[in-house]
Amino acid sequence: MRERCKAGPIAGAILAVALCVHAGAAFAASATAPLRRLAASRGLHIGTAVSDDALVSDPDYRRVLRREFNIVTPENVMKWGPIHPERDRYDFAAADRLVAEARKAHMRVRGHTLVWYMQNPAWLTGGAFTRDEAIAVLHDHIGTVVGRYRGKVAQWDVVNEAFGDLDGNPRNTIWRQRIGPDYIEMAFRFAHEADPRAKLYYNDFLTEISAAKFDAVLALVTDLKARGVPIDGVGFQTHAFYGVGCTGCVTTLAEQFARVAAAGLDVAVTELDAGLPQPTTPALLQQQADFYGGVVAACRSVRRCRTIVSWGFTDRYSWIPAFIPGQDDALPFDRAYQPKPAYFAIQRALRVRR
Ligand code: XIL
Repeated sequence: MRERCKAGPIAGAILAVALCVHAGAAFAASATAPLRRLAASRGLHIGTAVSDDALVSDPDYRRVLRREFNIVTPENVMKWGPIHPERDRYDFAAADRLVAEARKAHMRVRGHTLVWYMQNPAWLTGGAFTRDEAIAVLHDHIGTVVGRYRGKVAQWDVVNEAFGDLDGNPRNTIWRQRIGPDYIEMAFRFAHEADPRAKLYYNDFLTEISAAKFDAVLALVTDLKARGVPIDGVGFQTHAFYGVGCTGCVTTLAEQFARVAAAGLDVAVTELDAGLPQPTTPALLQQQADFYGGVVAACRSVRRCRTIVSWGFTDRYSWIPAFIPGQDDALPFDRAYQPKPAYFAIQRALRVRR
């Protein structure tokens, strides 16, 4: 086994991230057993973000989704922009569609997301609000959205990405500007008020790359919990922007999962994917598989980690090429819905007895 790591700039949205390339064991195909069946036998939920466009237009997408997964996250349709396009108007059509699909196929739903700095409607980002008005807007939104899906959404990403991309500094979001740092605990309290049984998560990314960011997240959630704010867990997005299996990153993730669990909080892998530099090669696919399998194993090493969600499942529909220029092929199924080495690595990691 060879391994090399170096720091590299990320073109596009994200700043910079460590690049680790790991050349691992040869890929061995095994018989297909739907991931949801294996996961259920281990007491786990395995899932994917769902694109509403694909759900509506592509029967193969729906077929594989139902076959393989037992939890789904709306990729976009529960974000502020789509679900609350005008101050006095909500649009639940697409979110209702996903929740209905999940019910039919006996899948849980992770709601995503109630507070984020992106994909907000113009009325919200451009509007002039006093602090009290901003709190009222936040309360109305969270109460309405969480209330509508009360008992139907098992977990919510209440606050998403409240820290800088690669540092522990609070992100200067519209909510922080208008309300102050306590917008975070307000969001959790409002969500709990609307559905006391939903599990409430703080969700963020690249903590496995930035220790400062992880420390800030852990300090935040520990403080919230100590003060009785209703928070249940931490979501680790686990986007691997260079798409390469990185044993170091996976070890760090396992340690961080354990520290979150020791703080009395649940852990979820919420947006797993691994974009590959193009053109894709068999070696890159193997490195990607090692990463996927390693993340599943890391989750399984911690009793409080029971949810693993990838950010899509087929390379036919993925956010990666549009957001990380030069990368693609990030997901466990190819464009023709054939399982890739990453799929079999997940399968193997689920088969391991603990
Ligand atoms: C992405 C979606 O996949 C895209 O379709 C959309 O245009 C932008 O957002 N972190 C998150 C997700 O928490 O909501 C983002 O989803 C990906 C990064």
